[in-house]
Amino acid sequence: MHITKQGLTALATGLTIMAMAQTGAAQSAAGAEEYTRACASCHGLTGRGDGPLAEYMSIPVPDVTQIRTRNNGVFPMLEVIHLIDGRTGLRGHGGPMPIWGDRFEAAVASELGDVGTEIAVRGRVLALATYLEAIQQ
Ligand code: HEC
Repeated sequence: MHITKQGLTALATGLTIMAMAQTGAAQSAAGAEEYTRACASCHGLTGRGDGPLAEYMSIPVPDVTQIRTRNNGVFPMLEVIHLIDGRTGLRGHGGPMPIWGDRFEAAVASELGDVGTEIAVRGRVLALATYLEAIQQ
């Protein structure tokens, strides 16, 4: 078989795209699982703000499938990341939303060093934010 240089470049590009797509799929699967475990109790399985704990909240639990719509058609990725993390204090309102950054940190801090812990926390937050972006209506 004769393989040209262009053919090899195309193959490499194809493989890179496939690898990126797989990373994306793994990321959103992780986000979906995390969401179901940590967020659905309040925000609801489909994100509508109708989880079983919602009625016990002092303020309404927002519908997280409408974040993009509420923000004029743009999903505010960075804000959502900060809001979920909570540690930066950049929260929309000081409501009862748990500070997930602290919780995720506490879960791994005894096993991973400072840097490893930070990477793990950011990975979990990013997976959640990516998942939320994917379920916008
Ligand atoms: C104990 C109930 C509860 C849980 C569990 C919870 N949230 Fe929230 N969430 C709220 C409430 C109440 C608000 C609105 C007030 C606030 O921002 O604190 C909110 C707000 C938000 C917002 C802002 C939405 C907007 O349109 O402004 C996002 C994004 C969000 N939550 C994501 C998550 C994610 C991701 C998880 C899981 C890791 C989660 N929440 C778990 C109660 C909860």
